[in-house]
Amino acid sequence: MNSRKVLVFGATGEIGGRIARDCVRAGHKVIGISRGKNSNEHVELEGVQMICGDKSDESFIRDTVAKLDYDAVINSVPNINDVELCSKYLKKAENVLFCSSTGTFVPLRYFPADENHPWREKTPVNFYQQCVRDARAIELWETEDFPVSILRPTNIIGPGRVPLELWGARDIAFFKKLKSGESISIAPCEHILLQSGYNDDLAGAFVKALDYPDEVRGEIFIISCRKAITLGTYLSTAMQFLNSKSEIRRVSPEELMKIYPEITWTNRLDFLLEHMCFDIGKAELIFGYVPRKTAEEGLADALEWCEKTGLL
Ligand SMILES: NC(=O)c1ccc[n+]([C@@H]2O[C@H](COP(=O)([O-])OP(=O)(O)OC[C@H]3O[C@@H](n4cnc5c(N)ncnc54)[C@H](OP(=O)(O)O)[C@@H]3O)[C@@H](O)[C@H]2O)c1
Repeated sequence: MNSRKVLVFGATGEIGGRIARDCVRAGHKVIGISRGKNSNEHVELEGVQMICGDKSDESFIRDTVAKLDYDAVINSVPNINDVELCSKYLKKAENVLFCSSTGTFVPLRYFPADENHPWREKTPVNFYQQCVRDARAIELWETEDFPVSILRPTNIIGPGRVPLELWGARDIAFFKKLKSGESISIAPCEHILLQSGYNDDLAGAFVKALDYPDEVRGEIFIISCRKAITLGTYLSTAMQFLNSKSEIRRVSPEELMKIYPEITWTNRLDFLLEHMCFDIGKAELIFGYVPRKTAEEGLADALEWCEKTGLL
């Protein structure tokens, strides 16, 4: 493995912080960039040289970032503007790794979905802005050799954030009800497939990809744990961890939104009710990605973190 000089945009973020830290552990020289606004708890950034600035500010990218010493760029929270600025000013990078999402692929037309699955068209549930951004990045690779690689994590799980619940968001109230044994209503969703990637595994994928600069360029990779589970298994894992005796009531989505008015259909229940089941074989084959945790282990670790931090 060669030591590389890596810029990490979003290095104080939940995934971005893990990427920056793991790059340091792997022996890379790391410069982290953020605006310094993020007050969330983040991982230890010892060894990361931090620079404060806004990645959407063209003069900051042109006059400060472009003049740094680097050979790889990792952007944990890219947007379409970043694609343009990065391809214009950070041309000396051998690799530019973007964090995207498997939310670009939904609804899935086959299982497990792989990187050949359609994703460019707008659908009622996909993350279309991310599709537009990724399509532009790939176009720049094809026309101008923009050395991009797009890594698409599934739902993220593990210590550091409240896990997804069966109301389609990350509402700690769901898990509080389970813990206290209160009855709880859900839409009939226990047959739906979910695949959750462990945060440290996902961050590790970016670091591994740095070891294969030529192989990953211009490619899209799905990263997650190895196997999808049903939301039923996910719920029983949470109940077991919390020693919950809650009664689970199944109601229609319409009824559910009446019981809990904060639950919405768009961008929430509609997405939860989509199957998520992906093949991570390409990342395994091309850059030796090895996820170490299952979705159930990730959920248990996330709930343990919620308890330790007093959220739960
Ligand atoms: N949540 C999921 O289940 C899921 C699933 C698949 C993919 N993803 C993807 O995973 C990524 C999430 O990364 P994360 O967890 O590390 O995010 P995060 O915790 O929200 O952190 C965002 C980071 O970016 C920095 N940042 C934001 N805007 C900036 C700007 N204009 N200029 C410079 N820095 C800026 C923030 O710091 P400052 O605010 O201080 O600038 C912070 O360091 C996203 O790309 C998301 O699409 C998430």
